[in-house]
Amino acid sequence: MDRRTLLGTLAAGAVGAGLHAKGLSPDPTDVKPTGNPLAEYAPRAFDFGTGLTGLGKELLAEHLTLYKGYVTRTNALLKDVLAAEKEGKAGPMVQELRRRLGFEFSGMRLHELYFEALSQNAAKPSATHPLHQAIAGTWGSFDAWWAAFKATCTMTGIGWGALVKDPVTGRLMNAWLQDHENAAAVGTQALLVVDVWEHAYVKDYGATGRAKYVDAVKPLIDWRVVEKRF
Ligand SMILES: [Fe+2]
Repeated sequence: MDRRTLLGTLAAGAVGAGLHAKGLSPDPTDVKPTGNPLAEYAPRAFDFGTGLTGLGKELLAEHLTLYKGYVTRTNALLKDVLAAEKEGKAGPMVQELRRRLGFEFSGMRLHELYFEALSQNAAKPSATHPLHQAIAGTWGSFDAWWAAFKATCTMTGIGWGALVKDPVTGRLMNAWLQDHENAAAVGTQALLVVDVWEHAYVKDYGATGRAKYVDAVKPLIDWRVVEKRF
């Protein structure tokens, strides 16, 4: 398994990250290991300026604040779980902390995958890129895939719509990630994720506006980023 595949692979139910277009905000997979596996995670900087078309400044600012909370809680849980393990604790309190760690870590990483592929100057899909040939070969056309992806994003529930790839076969799948950490097909790579928790759209679209929000996200998806993850 090469580095790209290794780093982009799901680990312990958390959705793996892909590569990121050069010149934009740094992707975790472009960052060499620091040599300190105990280093804390730092919130990544995403700047949406005065907002994006269809996603207001206030909504995005609140969303970025929520993201930073996932980073903070991930760091705290990593510390607490390890400390408990070193003390030989194995009871229900530690078990629940571990469960919570999967939730917070996956929430952190999913938001990074989501935000880094959102851009006011998003690149359109490249028809000649192998990803789009794979999409067309799987669903028949890009539009047919998008219809299925949108249906995934508008499923009842709290979570994420995702386009994922199984690196073993190259198969593409639309996936529903319940909450953050549940129902992920282990080992698949996240190519595209769309946050469909209510906080991602209610301020601008209301509680019944998820489909309109997904429509608004569509032209903001930076396919340079998504294609790099393929
Ligand atoms: Fe979110």
